[in-house]
Amino acid sequence: MIEIIWLGHSTFQLKLETGEYILLDPWINGNPKHPEGFEITRIDTMLVSHGHFDHIADAVPLARKFKPQVISNYEICAWLESKGVENACGMNKGGGQQAGPVRVTMTNAFHSSGIADEGKIIYGGEPGGFIIHLPDGRNIYFAGDTSVFSDMALLAEIYKPELAFLPIGDLYTMGPGEAAVACRLLQAKTVIPMHYGTFPPLVGTPEALAERIAGLDCTVWTLEPGVPVEW
Ligand code: NI
Ligand code: MN
Repeated sequence: MIEIIWLGHSTFQLKLETGEYILLDPWINGNPKHPEGFEITRIDTMLVSHGHFDHIADAVPLARKFKPQVISNYEICAWLESKGVENACGMNKGGGQQAGPVRVTMTNAFHSSGIADEGKIIYGGEPGGFIIHLPDGRNIYFAGDTSVFSDMALLAEIYKPELAFLPIGDLYTMGPGEAAVACRLLQAKTVIPMHYGTFPPLVGTPEALAERIAGLDCTVWTLEPGVPVEW
């Protein structure tokens, strides 16, 4: 079993059975859905899907404090290093690397990845997603920010993820209609919606997704920020 805590938007903390903590797309300060009073106490691995502030805002301070292995694309890792992050392990799509007891594979995502830095947008490589291969053999797909794309079927064929984190908010990512197609392509049994409800324009809802996948062998699992669940 792993413990999952949603920290609002696309930020999640995973705790492995062996005690390691994985932080996904860290956005704490200014995140309207960050659970009040929640403290991060340990990070062994940090994954950053792309360079937008709502996925990277707290990567530098948290990485400097907890010194995790930070995994992102080559350009973002170079930028993080320039900000004093020590253990940035750049990679690219299709490749994998070990992070403690898990293996992390970078996948495609259809989005953008510019990094806002002192009033300018810096090239942040290409956006990605991740497959997290757990030591018990189960695989998780964390989509990052993306539209639906037909190669999600290829991810299903190669990695067979049982759990998928999918953005559903619309406007900057797919909405519930597109996410329903993603569910069909990915064939994951469980989907955790993310990137919705943070700001008023992110209008997609888990209920709307659940309605659209009524015929599929897939359950929409709606988390509450700050409330731990086990999977
Ligand atoms: Ni984004
Ligand atoms: Mn975003």
